[in-house]
Amino acid sequence: MVEKEQIRELIRTAVKQTAYSYVPYSGFRVGAALLAQNGCVYTGCNIENAAYTPSNCAERTAFFKAVSEGVTKFSAICVVGGMDGVLTEYAPPCGVCRQVMMEFCDPETFAVILAVSEEDYQVFRLEELLPKGFGPGNLA
Ligand code: THU
Repeated sequence: MVEKEQIRELIRTAVKQTAYSYVPYSGFRVGAALLAQNGCVYTGCNIENAAYTPSNCAERTAFFKAVSEGVTKFSAICVVGGMDGVLTEYAPPCGVCRQVMMEFCDPETFAVILAVSEEDYQVFRLEELLPKGFGPGNLA
């Protein structure tokens, strides 16, 4: 369970990250703040590429930063995004990012916070965004 004040802090952090987005092709800035179970927050922004395919979403940037430092247990992620960094609607994670979450997170408890501002946000469980997802348990 993520506390309200912690949610607001994750939103503030995710919003700050949109400034670092590298988006010369879409102009769509996305920021993410990933809360690990050890209390650390890993940040991410989307990073595009002239060859398009190698582009990386903000959520995966945050996950890969954490995992590359040996952190693999997570409680929540906040995602914000908008054209030119103007936040008007929720920016839901793409299917690939949902699958990456499925690899490291418990779908019944991992919280995905979609936000427009500190006052306007909604919290989903991963299970709601990726029903019947395929994960490590399927290969056990
Ligand atoms: N994007 C993300 O960073 N996260 C998502 O889950 C959806 C899409 C980025 C990818 C690309 O740089 C831009 O948004 C437009 O698709």
